[in-house]
Amino acid sequence: MRTGVVRKARMPRRLPLLGHAVSFARDPLAFISTMRHAGDVVKIRVGTQDLYLIYKPALVRQVLTDATTFVRGIQAERTKVLLGNGLVSSDGDFHLRNRRLVQPAFHRQRIAGYADVMREEAEAMVARWREGGQIAADDEVMQVGLRVVGKTLFSNAFGVEAVDEVVRSVPLVLDGVGRRALDPTGLLQKLPTAGNREFNTTLQRLRDVVDRIIAEYRASNTDHGDMVSMLLRATDAETGEQLTDLQIRDEVITMLAAGTDTTANTLSWILHVLGERADLEARLHAEVDSVVGDRPVTLADVPKLEFVRRLISEALRLYPQAWVLARTTTVPVRLGDTALPAGTSMLLPIYALQRDPAVFPDPTTFDPDRWDPERTNQAMKPSFLPFGAGRHQCVGEAFAWTEAAITLAVIARHWRLCPVPGKSVEINSLATLRPTQLPMTTHLRNTV
Ligand code: HEM
Repeated sequence: MRTGVVRKARMPRRLPLLGHAVSFARDPLAFISTMRHAGDVVKIRVGTQDLYLIYKPALVRQVLTDATTFVRGIQAERTKVLLGNGLVSSDGDFHLRNRRLVQPAFHRQRIAGYADVMREEAEAMVARWREGGQIAADDEVMQVGLRVVGKTLFSNAFGVEAVDEVVRSVPLVLDGVGRRALDPTGLLQKLPTAGNREFNTTLQRLRDVVDRIIAEYRASNTDHGDMVSMLLRATDAETGEQLTDLQIRDEVITMLAAGTDTTANTLSWILHVLGERADLEARLHAEVDSVVGDRPVTLADVPKLEFVRRLISEALRLYPQAWVLARTTTVPVRLGDTALPAGTSMLLPIYALQRDPAVFPDPTTFDPDRWDPERTNQAMKPSFLPFGAGRHQCVGEAFAWTEAAITLAVIARHWRLCPVPGKSVEINSLATLRPTQLPMTTHLRNTV
């Protein structure tokens, strides 16, 4: 309740010099979950820096939807090294203008074209599987994710080389991003280690390939109907401005970083759960059989796959790929009862919000039916933010839903994936939430 009183945020117990840095680094998911009990706005200290954790959904929404007062700040600075000035690492007018130019590439009609690529890549994956074989299911869906984003960016003949480079480079780049995201000082990335050298070389190789493709596209002056063609042609309706080649490269690398493992990890978690829960698997098979039957999966099937939608929603809730978002205040501001000066850094712990037992009863249980329209309630929506909100809300949201639904339906038409006994699957919290491993055996549905 607003009281008119300005309070100090609670600061829970900490170590004298390191503050909460050790607990945060040791198990960030447990740390942000436990801190929920300390209040709506909780102040922690990481090294010499004060950081605020915001737990009240209304306040989280206030932060996300006021992109002038709350900017990405340090988070953007960290990612700029990797992603340049792409949408994920920019703020203000520059972001707004580029967002307007990029958004049409994600228009519904465009997604319809991308859906064919999504089906083809998922079909190519299952065509490689053999009865009784063992796969790394997380790697399999990651390959699909990489090839789908790669091919929707560069669809034509020049693109083959680029897509191959994407498949080779992006996983290494993402690993580097993950390590950097958890480096509290920002210094580790500057050390001349073999890992850092490999990261820098790989990133440069990827940039070179993307630059070459952009130059070839410009020279050919043809619309290939893919994202890069769209970005080359995008023109601001008000100012007539277009993206420069460097800005297009930044946006391309940003899509590859933001759009590949996010969707792939979401799918991995669903496959993991289905392997453990025969009841859910049977319902998925029944739905896919009745909606799709023996023909190939199409975009028109997606809205009819209601149970698939529930599975994806629940995986996004339990394993949010953007498990924490960061913002910094540009001016003094009052957040609930707490007064924050300009330059305050804050974390929005999406993972903890989406596992709040007061909103999602029995929060650690994977229960797709909590997304049954009859059971959803008013409190769930503001606490469910897997794609963020406001001006920076994920531009690839519809893309991700479509890719996840099509890939899942293609798998479920003919295949069952079973866990390999004795292999435990835990959450690996880097920049995104991946399974630590996901070995599974592949079985044709009619053989088991
Ligand atoms: C399950 C899959 C995905 C999840 C959970 C996800 C999540 C998010 C979240 C939470 C944000 C907001 C970040 C912030 O507020 O700071 C975001 C932004 C973004 N995402 Fe996604 N994303 C997914 C898939 C994709 C895909 C497939 C693409 C592109 C192909 C993509 C491209 C982007 C971009 C470019 C931004 C920056 C948007 C802006 O600031 O204007 N994402 N995503």
